[in-house]
Amino acid sequence: MTWLITGGAGYIGAHVVRAMTEAGERTVVYDDLSSGIAGRLPADVPLVEGSVLDAGRLADVLAGHGVTGVVHLAAKKQVGESVERPLHYYRENVEGLRVLLEQVTKAGVASFVFSSSAAVYGMPDVDLVTEETPCLPMSPYGETKLAGEWLVNATARATGLSTACLRYFNVAGAAEPALADTGVFNLVPMVFERLTVGEPPRVFGADYPTPDGTCVRDYIHVVDLADAHVATARALQASPGRTLTLNIGRGEGVSVREMIDRISAVTGHHLPPTVLPRRAGDPPSVVASAERVCAELGWQAKHDVQEMITSAWEGWVRLHPETARQ
Ligand code: WQD
Repeated sequence: MTWLITGGAGYIGAHVVRAMTEAGERTVVYDDLSSGIAGRLPADVPLVEGSVLDAGRLADVLAGHGVTGVVHLAAKKQVGESVERPLHYYRENVEGLRVLLEQVTKAGVASFVFSSSAAVYGMPDVDLVTEETPCLPMSPYGETKLAGEWLVNATARATGLSTACLRYFNVAGAAEPALADTGVFNLVPMVFERLTVGEPPRVFGADYPTPDGTCVRDYIHVVDLADAHVATARALQASPGRTLTLNIGRGEGVSVREMIDRISAVTGHHLPPTVLPRRAGDPPSVVASAERVCAELGWQAKHDVQEMITSAWEGWVRLHPETARQ
């Protein structure tokens, strides 16, 4: 099989490429390099620069490389930005996927893995979110991921394409420092940034109905997430026509306060956090039930929060060497 990894030069995509190639799969990356970095890719993995809105270029790549499976990660992923620019998000994430699926079905590709998100659930009011928990996204970003799942599932029903929608929970960590996330839009890098400029980390709300009053999330190591893609790819390859919708999480909730304490311990930067008002749209608790993915794929996460923070910090120090504490 040859797998086309769209968004393969991104933070998560590059980890997926690494895991797939280490598992012996042939991969080709398709990325517009709007936020991806070519240097994240192994030298022997071909990179085709292009947009998922470019049907002609996609058709050329699918035929030219004999692509038999696609892992589609190319997307816009900032919740706040999606509120400001919903049409841009719908164009890139929904129209981009529609164009890709059209070319995928025309080219006779057998398997399609779609990068979805726990954002499809919105504000779940259950302790553990199962795949049957109602999807009520709270942002245009989450809406585009849910609409994407509908497109994928409808295409599977119409064409027999084997598909998987993987709902990622909160991804952190890195396989090696050079693959770390370079953005600062999530809790771990935001706390690194504050601590290393000598500012107290911020807690957005400490009056939630959770054990310590701060929001609870299910953090997953990007290496585990990438391995879940390998397991998914293998499962689709082995069972033509199979369709899966799976939570990819650890099934363990960690609060913002616990994360900040652990980050301080790992980085050696200690500053008591400032409690600010709640951030609009934040659900109190989003923790995956990881039962279905284990039952369907035999996959479960191996790495804990400590490893996520330590590896993310090594990546941060690589980019900002002056912030390392002896
Ligand atoms: C985690 C918690 C913040 C920074 C989003 C998307 C999701 C996925 C991942 C996808 C929240 C709190 C944060 C800070 C804080 N995106 N926080 N102080 O919002 O759970 O999920 O990113 O591709 O779809 O919704 O992640 O890392 O932003 O926040 O208190 O400085 O940390 O309020 O409770 P979130 P996050």
